[in-house]
Amino acid sequence: MKVTRSKRLYIVANRLPVTITTHKEEAEIAQSSGGLVTAVNSYLQHAGNEFSDFFWVGVPGCNSATWKEVSHKIHQATFTYIPVHIADADYEKYYNGFSNSVIWPLFHYFPSYAEYSMDEYSHYIKVNQQFAEILYRNCSAGDTIWIHDYHLLPLAQMMRELVPEITIGIFLHIPFPSFEIFRLLPRKWQEGILKGMLGADLIGFHTIDYASHFLQSIQMVLGIDNDRNVIRNNDRLIKVDVFPISIDYALFNNSYNDEKVIALRNVLLDQEKERKIIFSVDRLDYTKGVQNRLRAYEYFLKENPQYHNKVVFIIVVVPSRDTIPKYVERKKLIDEMISRINSHIGNIHWQPVIYQYNTLEFHEMMALYTSCHLALITPLRDGMNLVSKEFIASRKDKKGVLIISEMAGAARELSEALMINPNDTMEMAEQIKAGLEMEEAEQYERITSMQKRLENYDVQTWASDFMLGLNNIKQRQQTFQEI
Ligand code: G6P
Repeated sequence: MKVTRSKRLYIVANRLPVTITTHKEEAEIAQSSGGLVTAVNSYLQHAGNEFSDFFWVGVPGCNSATWKEVSHKIHQATFTYIPVHIADADYEKYYNGFSNSVIWPLFHYFPSYAEYSMDEYSHYIKVNQQFAEILYRNCSAGDTIWIHDYHLLPLAQMMRELVPEITIGIFLHIPFPSFEIFRLLPRKWQEGILKGMLGADLIGFHTIDYASHFLQSIQMVLGIDNDRNVIRNNDRLIKVDVFPISIDYALFNNSYNDEKVIALRNVLLDQEKERKIIFSVDRLDYTKGVQNRLRAYEYFLKENPQYHNKVVFIIVVVPSRDTIPKYVERKKLIDEMISRINSHIGNIHWQPVIYQYNTLEFHEMMALYTSCHLALITPLRDGMNLVSKEFIASRKDKKGVLIISEMAGAARELSEALMINPNDTMEMAEQIKAGLEMEEAEQYERITSMQKRLENYDVQTWASDFMLGLNNIKQRQQTFQEI
């Protein structure tokens, strides 16, 4: 029997928020500044949270020998990192395989991209078990585990069996699909995923739709009903709720006046002084609708020759999962399309698309957000889409127009944006024109409303709300057991 110590919080995600690469036998360490780290950090720095120690459990991206060598050099200000070392062959089948070639495409409504393999599913379970073993060695009943995303769906139940009293929350950062899509998975996998998630006390989604799809799958597959989003499973209460993830609003808003941002913005505005800038940035992914967007831009230019040489589309694609064939293929299709637009519509004075396939530094992204006239965000399916929220927050000048796909979770909160269906090329082209021609007074009004909403519910509110939800359901469980 383990002794319960002070309250500790374990964030569990596929990756540790640090990347270690070895170059000429020298290890290079890069701290991640992704959405989740920002979210959890700002929550933990906020006075009043109840935890005494914070840990981050995940794959370090290097082998255990390198980790031993470099871990003391890693700046671990808020969290102590607990690495989960997975053999390369296992990781390949768990990450490139089941996580990103079954769950990712299926949950984003790309059923024909899913490649079902029994072997990859068993490796997915195996790696989740390895996470569970590491966690079990470290935590005890009074602790809280917050699991993130689709790589770790079976983990909650594994931990529940090992430490029944422990508090577990799980948050899914991608959509949960409708039952008609979910049921395409072999029955055993459906059950494995759903029962796995039911090991948690609180299960969080970005939108009401994802939560109700999940509840429907629970009903159809496991025959378990819910009462106002509370599930009773093996005499334990489990809450399903909605927490739309957000951004560090103040950081984006204040960075408008950052010196580096101002300098680069001025360069960009000067470089394109004859033209209006359209901007987009995404990870390389078939879900992001980059080709649909380019098709619409091409159509817009063909229909509106008066805009030739008066507009430029700066498109940034951030490399991602580039050992998976569907991603390699996507890169090729995007490259070809851009070169077609530039060579067919452009001329020696004007390149309609400026394309970068690389990561952006924070100040570069801010300079692009704040110098563009139009942000064009057109995913075919997206759990949330933080780029759209970042763009709105960054516009301290209250200028600029957001065009967003109705297939992004963020569209629900950004209702003053120009909404498009990413499969409707003509509508998208019309909205590009409308956006480029929108009066500044209207831009101001739309941005102000969206900014108010984002400022009220920023990433810290998101994390605290989730933790509050977790406490509430734990208390309800106690009352329920005492009755
Ligand atoms: C999405 C997922 C995250 C993931 C991120 C980057 O946002 O929801 O869990 O970390 O993509 O993908 P990668 O495969 O590079 O971790």
